[in-house]
Amino acid sequence: MKLSKTFSKTSKLLFPLMLLFFLSACKKENAEQLSSNHQDALSPVPLLPEVPFDYAAIELPSHFQTNALSLYESFANPVDVSNEGAALGRVLFYDNKLSANDMVSCASCHQQEHAFSDPRIRSIGFEGELSHRHSQTLVNLRWSRRLFWDHRVNGVENQVLMPIQDPLEMGMTLDELIMKLQSTPYYPELFSAAYGDETVTTERISNALAQFITSIYSFRSKYDEGYFNDFASFSDEELAGKDLFFNGETRCNQCHSTALFFDPQARNTGMDYSDDLGLYEVTGNESDKGKFKTTTLRNIELTAPYMHDGRFETLTEAIQHYNQGILPDPNLDDRLSVELEIGGTPVEMNLSDEDVANLVSFLKTLTDEALVNDPMYANPFLR
Ligand code: HEC
Ligand code: HEC
Repeated sequence: MKLSKTFSKTSKLLFPLMLLFFLSACKKENAEQLSSNHQDALSPVPLLPEVPFDYAAIELPSHFQTNALSLYESFANPVDVSNEGAALGRVLFYDNKLSANDMVSCASCHQQEHAFSDPRIRSIGFEGELSHRHSQTLVNLRWSRRLFWDHRVNGVENQVLMPIQDPLEMGMTLDELIMKLQSTPYYPELFSAAYGDETVTTERISNALAQFITSIYSFRSKYDEGYFNDFASFSDEELAGKDLFFNGETRCNQCHSTALFFDPQARNTGMDYSDDLGLYEVTGNESDKGKFKTTTLRNIELTAPYMHDGRFETLTEAIQHYNQGILPDPNLDDRLSVELEIGGTPVEMNLSDEDVANLVSFLKTLTDEALVNDPMYANPFLR
């Protein structure tokens, strides 16, 4: 008794100190990790092809040209893309100069080999601080009007300057950014090619970044190939998983829908969300508590960990949430309730381990190797 009292007294004093020490040690370690990540193989100037890649003429397959997707695209109102504009956007996306201390670029937290997501649960900002949520994949955003896990921004062009000015992510002011880019030798020519003269403006920076991001399409997966040949090369497991995904009982495709496997609405999937209220943080409506962006499942194999807070390490865990982990919630989506009512009884899917494994196999057919190896989206500063 006495011992614990003494302990708690000292620990009251010591604990904040220890925490402070621990946090600053973490920050330092994160910062060190950041600096070792980069550098060695980087060129001081971007290495670009003489004739820019053809971003403007990417041809989409027919399942990307449905009425539903055209409607979503019109809501999202994406920017027009030119080859020179997207090429400038690519350089900006990979340029550490966009952060206050030249330590991070957009690509630090949106990595091509992970379909432009981040394998870390939380990303590391320019001074070693951790982001509040898990980073998101950036594919097929042409059809996404609302951005971020809580939908707090409309339109990619309005979004892209936010991480640059975020005090935790890149820590710049827009004035500093313009001055810095103006005095960087390779930018005048790139701005000139994209916009007709060398002037650097915030509008041009956000437009070029938006051009690059919205030309990142993912439609070259095994699933897409299968879509056009009756899934001839699918294994039995993949076929069984596909049936489960689309059969109505799992309800997966009722939210992860269209060729994008996404939904424009944020939804409540019955997860415990005590410290992050999702869409509610933006709207303040009770009925929005616990709703998060219904992200695309394209390249899901590459974008672990999963959910807005990266709580699940594996696809099996993520699927087990739907199978037997859905919690009662006044805002639980009707698609995940027994009565098909909002806030109804959480559904239990009774999927066997084999079913879950088959679903995982199917989800892996959404991996787009062509995209993650495509030089037009790669780091132009890599030698
Ligand atoms: C320090 C890490 C970090 C950096 C640097 C960063 N991002 Fe992000 N990005 C994130 C995180 C984390 C999220 C999710 C944040 C949230 O929902 O609250 C995100 C979300 C996004 C989204 C929303 C995607 C969607 O589906 O809604 C876009 C677009 C985006 N980032 C683009 C960029 C661009 C462009 C840059 C560079 C100018 C950039 N990011 C720099 C971590 C980062
Ligand atoms: C009611 C709509 C809804 C249904 C039905 C649904 N999902 Fe989701 N799914 C979501 C939302 C919303 C998220 C993001 C939740 C979050 O981050 O808090 C999500 C996230 C995911 C993720 C993680 C995505 C990422 O980028 O981290 C996977 C994997 C997933 N769902 C698979 C499935 C599978 C498999 C099924 C069927 C068993 C399914 N979903 C059914 C709405 C739904």
